[in-house]
Amino acid sequence: MLMGHEKIEILHLPTPLEHLKNVSADLGVDVYCKRDDLTNLATGGNKLRKLEYFLKDALDQGATMLITEGGAQTNHGRLTAAVATKYGLKCAIVTADEYPGEISANLLLDGMLGCPVYFVKDMETGRQAVIDKYTNEGEKVYYVPMGGSNEIGMLGYMECAIELDKQARELGIEDASVYVTVGSMGTYLGMLLGFKECGSSLKLVGINVLPYDGEGTDEENLLSALWDYYLKVSKFYDKDFGVTPEDFIIETHYIHGAYNNAVAEVRDVMYYLARKEAIIIDPCYTGKTFEAVYDKAKSGAIAPGSKVIFMHTGGLPGIYTKHHRVELEKELMQYMHTDEF
Ligand SMILES: Cc1ncc(COP(=O)(O)O)c(C=O)c1O
Repeated sequence: MLMGHEKIEILHLPTPLEHLKNVSADLGVDVYCKRDDLTNLATGGNKLRKLEYFLKDALDQGATMLITEGGAQTNHGRLTAAVATKYGLKCAIVTADEYPGEISANLLLDGMLGCPVYFVKDMETGRQAVIDKYTNEGEKVYYVPMGGSNEIGMLGYMECAIELDKQARELGIEDASVYVTVGSMGTYLGMLLGFKECGSSLKLVGINVLPYDGEGTDEENLLSALWDYYLKVSKFYDKDFGVTPEDFIIETHYIHGAYNNAVAEVRDVMYYLARKEAIIIDPCYTGKTFEAVYDKAKSGAIAPGSKVIFMHTGGLPGIYTKHHRVELEKELMQYMHTDEF
């Protein structure tokens, strides 16, 4: 139980912290991977830790249905649907994206889980219309915010940080830098607060994968959004976690201009990690974060001999999204030997 909030235990925790021997030998940096992709529902991913807390809150409130939102390929939507199914609740996903023309990637899994996906023209009115529809049908709706990133959802990653700190101490790598993806920010902020809570010496580096709206640069906009989120959390729990803006170590260099775009450099590191360690990362989130690790190790920005923990937060279905798959197929066709023998 964290911050006075209980959760429903869904996951088999702790997730493994693995040493990547082949990558470490190649990069000259000791690289470890925290396998939060191996969480145990519907192909796994980071949102499940947040959903353990949302589920408890929803059931306490007598909810019969979870409704959430995100992009058409939302991993968070798929995992919300998974948790709802498992615990006897209805679920619906709302997206303001256009229907991509085929049921692939997460959409396919949403359908398999029996979860309707509403493609709406405008998120504000569309979300409300979907909530009203189900409320009028007698459901008690619990709304889970995009990415599960609010005061409740981030508890899942506070807990993960405490778990990781313990594992790192056991392995004698408590001076490592932890590289984690920043999307809707809950994973990063939760981990930062978790490390503060347990007095960890692990250093957290957030790799941002999408531009944030605002007047400034990508970095300024993200820092300001993170600070606002932190203030909200601090007010909600009436607690000063001792965080200052200087605690936020983030990078915006790996956005490559847009969210979920197809990027050759990201695919290159996806192939690299698959071929060195048989670990599959995704083109939208974890690929960009691992690109940062790879890039910095190669350039010496991560000093030779130092220790890095790469947070694998899941996202596997993303490789089957149409615009990524097209590029992957082009590059991987050379492995298909159709007329040699
Ligand atoms: C696979 C994956 N990794 C990382 C993230 C980022 O987590 P957060 O939204 O908490 O910043 C997401 C968010 O959707 C995700 O799906």
